[in-house]
Amino acid sequence: MNESSRSAALYRRALKTLPGGVSRNTVLRSPHPAYAAHASGCRVTDIEGVERIDFANNMASLIHGHADPAIIAAVTEQLARGTAFTLATEIEIEYAEHLCNRCESLEHLRFVNSGTEAVMGMLKAARAFTGRTKIAKVEGAYHGLYDFAEVSQTSDPTNWGDPEKPRSVPVAHGTPATVLESVVVIPFNDPERAIAILDENKGEIACVIVDPMPHRVGLGPAEPGFVNALREWTQNDGSLLVFDEVITFRTEYGGHQERYDVRPDLTALGKIIGGGFPVGAIAGNADVMAVMNPLADGPRFPHSGTFSANPVTMVAGLTAMRLYDARAVARLNRLALRAVAGIRDALKASGVSGCVTGGGSIFRLHFKAETPSNRRESYRSPEESRRLAVMLDHLFDAGFLMINTCTWALSTAMGEEEVDALVGAIADGFKKLKTL
Ligand SMILES: Cc1ncc(COP(=O)(O)O)c(C=O)c1O
Repeated sequence: MNESSRSAALYRRALKTLPGGVSRNTVLRSPHPAYAAHASGCRVTDIEGVERIDFANNMASLIHGHADPAIIAAVTEQLARGTAFTLATEIEIEYAEHLCNRCESLEHLRFVNSGTEAVMGMLKAARAFTGRTKIAKVEGAYHGLYDFAEVSQTSDPTNWGDPEKPRSVPVAHGTPATVLESVVVIPFNDPERAIAILDENKGEIACVIVDPMPHRVGLGPAEPGFVNALREWTQNDGSLLVFDEVITFRTEYGGHQERYDVRPDLTALGKIIGGGFPVGAIAGNADVMAVMNPLADGPRFPHSGTFSANPVTMVAGLTAMRLYDARAVARLNRLALRAVAGIRDALKASGVSGCVTGGGSIFRLHFKAETPSNRRESYRSPEESRRLAVMLDHLFDAGFLMINTCTWALSTAMGEEEVDALVGAIADGFKKLKTL
């Protein structure tokens, strides 16, 4: 560590007020975080003057990269008109119409301020609609910070229990036992086991929440057989099937759910739909969403939020999503496939044990010979963690920002040049690993 660098000094200062010196764990790196100075398109420059190609895109939330001119123009115009009112706005209606037109299952929608809040609101809406309290979720899936949604997210071999019946493991110390009792954990892409577990909770579950390509579970897509089995079970049980598309909405014009024959009752959105600003949305079946309707006889889920649907996020999000039209989605997905093919070739040529998972324009490298299909299989051994750390440091030094699981999310600001550069750098990383 260069003790005299500006970044090192900033970090020493940050440690005095921010726990761990950061406001979110994802930006922490050793010996200190990199501090952003400015960015444009797919390139970010830190305060030391080092420029990197950004494949992290603020945790997969910047679909057009940084400082997109159309988004800047729309936001700048809005800033001068006001940033938040205790009034409704036309832009929130226009944006809700846009999102509902994109995706068949989105009939009614409420904007919120983060993916966490969207998932929380979605689970509360499901409870209010069904009058039931339990939630079923996939082992290891990350859905944000809501107590119920985070259960089992960090479970490990010492506490995850029997694969036939995964345990509800808390993330935060002090999680009430009643939360753990209210969350039923099912294995990913294992319809037989999942249905057997759900059967033990018949009539008690409000909803089964599924991220159709859960990052922390390994970033493999949910198989149609798994989704169909959950759809059928929830329909028979009177519970809801709800999707967390906070990350995956980018994969198809109408979200990852386009890839299945069945539709979820509700969907949580976030990340890219904010156009670079904090956002979330709860959307889906109009009858279910009616639990939030204040005009109904005693709304079953009263819902507010000071900054929900603020016009800055609305204009940024609408501009971003209009630009992310079907052609842009297809182009980005093709570009991602180019990267995946290159990395698979590099893996083969190097003899390093590894595989790539993902879909659409987001992919992840695992140092595993076999493609992991669930949380337990994607759990990293100490040696795999060491290799991952070497690769991430190598890529950072070579001028690439990655999500810290060695996941890369493309932005439309990229082209073949950037993708090929990433492939080349990863290939060099494999060579380096062979020498260690
Ligand atoms: C699948 C998924 N759901 C929910 C969230 C929470 O979103 P936010 O960080 O906006 O609260 C995330 C964030 O990474 C996510 O990946």
